Amino acid sequence: MTQKERQREGEVRERDLAQHYLELYRKHSWQPLTQMKTAKPVFIKSAQGCWLEDFSGKKYLDAGAGFANVNLGWGQEEIAKAMYEKAAGVVFLGPGFVDPDQVLLAEKLTRIVPQGMGLSKVFFQSGGSEANEAAFKMARQYHKQSGHPTKFKVISHWMGYHGATAAALSASGRHGRRVRFEPLVPGFIHAAPPFCYRCFFELKYPSCGILCARDVARIIELEDPETVSAFIAEPMSGSGGQNIPPPEYFEIIGKTCKENQVLLILDEIITGFGRTGKMFATSHYNVRPDVLVVGKGLTGGYAPLSAVVTNETVFNAFFSDRDNDKFDHVITYGGNPVSCAAALKAIEIMERDGLVERSRVLGEYLGQILNEAIGGHPLVAFTDGRGLRHKIELVKDRATKEPLLDPVPLKRLKQVYMEKGMVASIVGGETPSLGISAGISPPLTIEKADLDFAVSVVKAALDEAARGL
Ligand SMILES: Cc1ncc(COP(=O)(O)O)c(C=O)c1O
Repeated sequence: MTQKERQREGEVRERDLAQHYLELYRKHSWQPLTQMKTAKPVFIKSAQGCWLEDFSGKKYLDAGAGFANVNLGWGQEEIAKAMYEKAAGVVFLGPGFVDPDQVLLAEKLTRIVPQGMGLSKVFFQSGGSEANEAAFKMARQYHKQSGHPTKFKVISHWMGYHGATAAALSASGRHGRRVRFEPLVPGFIHAAPPFCYRCFFELKYPSCGILCARDVARIIELEDPETVSAFIAEPMSGSGGQNIPPPEYFEIIGKTCKENQVLLILDEIITGFGRTGKMFATSHYNVRPDVLVVGKGLTGGYAPLSAVVTNETVFNAFFSDRDNDKFDHVITYGGNPVSCAAALKAIEIMERDGLVERSRVLGEYLGQILNEAIGGHPLVAFTDGRGLRHKIELVKDRATKEPLLDPVPLKRLKQVYMEKGMVASIVGGETPSLGISAGISPPLTIEKADLDFAVSVVKAALDEAARGL
């Protein structure tokens, strides 16, 4: 058999295998966010760097870094090795037994979170939703044990996203994710998002005086401060629109929270670990959160792990001679040793390879080439971003700001991404006042040439979508 014949036989075998997997998928699988009746899944055979390869040999640039979690790209063997070594030994421990990596990671986290804010205590969970659930429960119990037993409500943003579990979803302000599951958990209240382009008050920055931030004081007053436990927000929004609040926003929120004894929880699950060009997006503002919630990029996407990082004031409400004052909350995989080993190695690589600075520098480049290529496109209201996290606000009409919600051009946009070999998010589009945006948030290890490719695909897709209008 010649080499060519052998190669052809190998290709046929791989096609058969892909067909076999597809049959199994149709019979037994039920994937998230997927209409299984019309699903056309792509089976991935391998992944390296920022690229995925399917069973036909077609390659896809993952310009979304998975769910903006695979910050170090695929194929980081050092992380795989650290996980293997841990999994071959201490794969799990219950409370009272401690794997050294759990304490080493907790200590490391307290050194890389924004400094000077007293964020010194680390409570591990496994996913982002779970970490936010834990933060809400922590806030309630904290108040009960520090003289404010009636504080239970949580204020958050419309357009924010904090997870899919019951309380995390109740805090989320993504219309489409919420409506089919109502009624949600009581005690979750939504404030206007700090999103100037679609300002809920129809004002203009800066003459608005940052009303969206100042209005939170009024919400707390009307709800009764003695019932409000926490305010949660993403420092820069993620899947709810990828928007960047005005610089003063969090300073005002921080003061309001302090005046009303409301804990400020910043959800850095998507923005943490270099995504926005700083280790944590909180550092872009003048604000001191009581609680920082981290996940996703913590392990570079190699293992599920999240953490609630708090200041001493919060922790001390649980630190007592009374056993009952402990935080009575557990999930089986919170702080799993294999995940902690992955996280320690991921952070080591991030620091060693200067990936946070790389994100900042390449982010500036991305912003520039995006703006040059599509800044004036008829379907683009504006592009914006920090670090390797950029958004493209999609509109049908730049003059009226009508969002691009028509299914035909949107479908075409996604099709062009697939045809040209790129994966990237398109978020929102659930209801007109929240708008819709395309995103680029690749692994922080991406090369300039791949960013050029991503922008060329976005441009081609927008051109095609415009033809479909
Ligand atoms: C800001 C933010 N918080 C929470 C979550 C939920 O995290 P998970 O999907 O790991 O539960 C996400 C997920 O996208 C997120 O972006």
